This record gives sequence, C-alpha cells and structure tokens, in this order.
Amino acid sequence: MSAKQNTRPFEEYESEVRSYCRNFPTVFTTAKGSFLYDEDGKKYLDFFCGAGGLNYGHNNDYIKEKLLAYLQSDGVMHALDMYTAPKREFLEFYEEKILKPRGLNYKIQFPGPTGTNAVEAALKLARKVKKRQNVFAMMGGFHGMTLGSIALTTDAASRAGAGVALQNVTHIPAPYMFPELNTLKYMETLLTDDHSGVDKPAAIILETVQADGGINPFDAEWLKGVRALCDKHDILMIVDDIQVGCARTGWFFSFERAGIVPDIVTQSKSIGGYGMPFALVLIKPELDIWEPGEHNGTFRGYQLSMVAAKAGLEVMLNEHVEEKVRRQEKLIAKEMEEIRALAPEKIKTRGMGFVWGVDFWRYDTQGAMSKKVQNLAFANGLIVERVGRGNTVIKVMPDLLISDEDLLHGLTLLKDAVKEAIS
Ligand SMILES: Cc1ncc(COP(=O)(O)O)c(C=O)c1O
Repeated sequence: MSAKQNTRPFEEYESEVRSYCRNFPTVFTTAKGSFLYDEDGKKYLDFFCGAGGLNYGHNNDYIKEKLLAYLQSDGVMHALDMYTAPKREFLEFYEEKILKPRGLNYKIQFPGPTGTNAVEAALKLARKVKKRQNVFAMMGGFHGMTLGSIALTTDAASRAGAGVALQNVTHIPAPYMFPELNTLKYMETLLTDDHSGVDKPAAIILETVQADGGINPFDAEWLKGVRALCDKHDILMIVDDIQVGCARTGWFFSFERAGIVPDIVTQSKSIGGYGMPFALVLIKPELDIWEPGEHNGTFRGYQLSMVAAKAGLEVMLNEHVEEKVRRQEKLIAKEMEEIRALAPEKIKTRGMGFVWGVDFWRYDTQGAMSKKVQNLAFANGLIVERVGRGNTVIKVMPDLLISDEDLLHGLTLLKDAVKEAIS
C-alpha cells in the first residue's frame, strides 16, 4: 500500500470489529473475474473469493447485464415476500433446472439474506417439527454468528463474543479428530444409552467439508452413515451448504457426492450469483409446517438478488462449472502435493474440488507460519485467508470460472510464498 492511500477514516471511524482489512491492508477499488485491483492499480489474484460468496468471480458480465436491465426497467426493488416476477422466475428456474434434474423435492424458504439467518431458520424449523430442543453439531463446524448459529459454531473466539450461555447443542468430535473413534457409533450410543446424559436432538447439522474449521472433507461413507443414523432415530439431517455449496466441491450441492438427501439444506453466499446478499432454506415438503410470517425479515428474498441468483445459476449450467471444477481439481491436487513436498514432515494439505487447505500446525499452533505465508502471498499479489485451529491453515478458494493459467499462476505464487516462509 502506498503512503498516498488514505486509510484514516477506517482506522478512526470504523469499529475495531473490522477484520479482513487487517490481513489485506490496501484500499480496493475495482474487480473483474479472478482479480481485485487497489487504489495504486496493483492487481491481486483472489483466492479468497468473498469467503465463498463469489464462486462465479467478480462482476461477471452475463450476470451484470441482467442486473442492469432489471434496474433500467424500474423493476420492483423491495417487496418483502410479496409475489413478484423475479421471484416467480427464480422459483421456476430453481425447480426445473436445479432440483428436478437431481431428483430433489424441496420447498424453498427465503430467510433474511445472510448465511446465519438461513441457519437460524433451519434450527427453528427442526426444533418445531421434532418438538425437541437439542441439536448435534460437529466440532470444527462454523455456522454463523447469531445466537442460535454461534451455539453450533465451535471456535472459541467466536463463541466468546456471544456474552451469554450457548445452549441446546451437543458437539460431536468430527471423524478426523479421533480416527480410532467410530463417531457414528458414538452418536448411536449417545442416543440409545439411557446413561449418556444427552438429550435426543431434533437435528444433526454439518458442513460436508468443514471450511472455516480448517478444510476438513467428510468422506461419503460417513455422510451416508449420518443419514442412516438420522433415519433410524427420527432425527432431521441438516446440511449447511453455505460455503462449500454452489458447485465448489464439483457438485452443485456438496452432499450429492455421497448420494444422500438431507431433510433441510441451507444456502447463502454464492447463491447470490454476483456477491449479492441472498439465502435459501430448502425444506422437505412434509416438514414445511411454518405458520405464515413465523420466521421473517425485511430483506428476505431481495429482488435484485433473485435476478442475480438466477443469472448465476445460468452461468453455472451454461459453463458446465461442475465438470470444470472436477477437471481442474486435479491441477490443484498436483500443486498441493508439490507444496506439501516442500516439507513433508511439517506441511499437510487436504481438500477437494475448489476448496483446499495448507496446514502449518506442525510449525506452530498459533498461526505464525500461516500468517507469514499469507503476508508474503499478499505482497506478491495473491489473496488467501487463514482458517482452522489457531488459524494455521491457508484456505485456497479460487473462483470457479478461473482459467487454467491463472489457477496455476496463483498456486505458484502460493508455493513461492511457502518456500520463502519456511526457508
Ligand atoms: C458453513 C457456513 N455457515 C454459515 C455461515 C454464516 O454465513 P454469514 O456470514 O453470511 O452469516 C458461514 C460463513 O462463513 C459458513 O461458512
């Protein structure tokens, strides 16, 4: 960042709660495709991708045209949940092009436009349907920062901010934490042992790939096991697809690879197509027992987001993004292996599709090495975020429309940063 960039208003007037700007200390102005540009004209390859909110890159021309046309036509902008043309078009498109081809049958709820609002709605509904308070969530999971969601979320720093007791959740060790523990059997025991001390839950909620928890993909067999456990014990399965959905794993819904159908699915972030605020809760029809207005919000189903969401899905289908991700996954995996090989005893890599992590835990558990890598990458024009226990994991999340050339270039920048940091 040059001295001429004025950051005083942020430092003086913006709350101390600001965070990403501390890792990427420059003033951004424009963005296109896979790149961000700052006030000095410096170009950054964006492997952060709006924390998963920009799967189709920045300012995609196709989506932009649809948004501009809607604005030009004086289309209704704000309508709460009244019937509108964009909502009708979105619902029909989603039903015909997303759900039906996958053999899925869900009703669609538009909660407030954030991920955490979708999670709150899913929790409320599950508790209402099953008339039980408890919910099982996985250690390492991240589900948002409002009270219901934060009770599910496990990272200590997020939980500390709640200021009140976080209740009605039983946290289950994620399978990678104790490979010798059969977590399915463990949950079964909690449910059947009359001395387990654990209340039967309304639902089990999980991310199929824990993203903010440090990039931990759950294997398909385990996911199937959770589905079977839920069926056996009359518990709802909720998949939080807010960060790794929308084709990021190589499947539009991240659970498709396991051949399972959750009872409730939450979507947000990239479902907004253009970085627009938007969220959905997909509900098996027989569970849709909401009373009118029982969960509401002034900005639910925002009209411009409807337009962007439909256009984003059109891009996803027209550009065959799922297939593209599965092809390019191999390029990423190969580069990740080269990064791991720089220090095979100390660096771990894991991931799938377009969500990968490089874990520096064995250097230090407080994230000093990952911070060094992040800073070096940023200086060289690559934006990557840190996640996981102690923030030791560099999260690699390119946009899904990226070219082979830019993808490999970004991975080379990351490799160079790792080389320099560990040398
Ligand atoms: C899996 C998951 N669920 C929920 C959320 C919360 O979404 P939001 O920040 O839009 O409230 C996030 C955000 O990172 C997430 O990754």
